[in-house]
Amino acid sequence: MEMKEQVREPDFVLEIRHLRSSFFTRRGEVPAVNDVTIQVPRGKIIGIVGESGCGKSMTAKSVMGLLKYPGRVVSGEILLEGRDIAGMKERELRKICGNEITMIFQEPMTSLNPVIKVGKQVSEALLLHHRELSRAQAREQAIEMFRKVGINEPEKRYDCYPHELSGGLRQRVMIAMAMVCRPKLLIADEPTTALDVTIEAQILKLMKQLRDEIGMSIIIITHNLGVVAELCDYVYVMYAGKIMEQAETFELFDHTAHPYTKGLMDSIPRIGSNAEHLHTIPGVVPNLLHLPKGCLFSNRCPYADDRCRQERPELYQVSQQHCARCFLLEKTGEEAEAHG
Ligand SMILES: Nc1ncnc2c1ncn2[C@@H]1O[C@H](COP(=O)(O)OP(=O)(O)OP(=O)(O)O)[C@@H](O)[C@H]1O
Ligand SMILES: [Mg+2]
Repeated sequence: MEMKEQVREPDFVLEIRHLRSSFFTRRGEVPAVNDVTIQVPRGKIIGIVGESGCGKSMTAKSVMGLLKYPGRVVSGEILLEGRDIAGMKERELRKICGNEITMIFQEPMTSLNPVIKVGKQVSEALLLHHRELSRAQAREQAIEMFRKVGINEPEKRYDCYPHELSGGLRQRVMIAMAMVCRPKLLIADEPTTALDVTIEAQILKLMKQLRDEIGMSIIIITHNLGVVAELCDYVYVMYAGKIMEQAETFELFDHTAHPYTKGLMDSIPRIGSNAEHLHTIPGVVPNLLHLPKGCLFSNRCPYADDRCRQERPELYQVSQQHCARCFLLEKTGEEAEAHG
């Protein structure tokens, strides 16, 4: 059978378009997420990197509808398979989050209930979204997922309380809980920071395996470019609430364009190495209440000139699928308007 050739839209599970999320404090508006556009293709692993405080978690929480007062989404779209979930009512959103999108947080104890057995917590998560299942079926699937995430003797662990498990096992329980509903998208916010390096490597490998098996998309939030190199297909580099550079992972490492990304590259803590003698970028992140007029990185950038301190650069196209927000690229690149 012959099909008509069509230009097909790329298949994005999630598209964040021009998202702005702020905290409204007594001292003024804190623009934590400042016009962020991110695309997550089906079955791909996307990394969001940047130093502490640059808006990574707030971006994730905006998607999950988890921003707490005085923070809120100000404008922009959050499209889950084309449906805008940014303006959704809490009840509708709860149905989606936990089922179609799930999130793993940095510290598993904050999301596990200390007085309920871990197996029950996972099967309850499943039952919440799949009322058609019997308790026995839910238990079976939870145990199966424990096995998948590498928990030994899953039947025995099923009846353990969180405090009876090691940090690594608790994180695996969290991952099992996030995966058991077979989400389309998993958002992992610093999923392994609290773990030691061997367990970290195991968990990252496991996430990749599960991506291949279930075909879900993953957003990994990290300040560790080593994790990005290991795992991600595509990377967004965030600074002071804005995307400064975005590219396929190998492209980002081979042809780093933005001075901020270069600075991060020089401070890569590689998996398995100790992080004692880290080079860090001199200077501090600008105060979000008083953002500089020009480029947000200009006060720390070794290449900054007068123009950089006066004007904000747009995202310039470096090559196909690679953009950076820096005037250095103006001569070589075109403004990547489509990417926001
Ligand atoms: N309740 C609040 N009121 C005002 N500003 C806030 C509030 N909570 C967070 N912020 C600001 O929002 C910004 C973004 O924070 P976010 O947690 O997204 O950073 P992050 O990139 O996840 O950092 P980390 O790597 O440390 O987790 C920070 O600069 C922070 O100061
Ligand atoms: Mg964070």
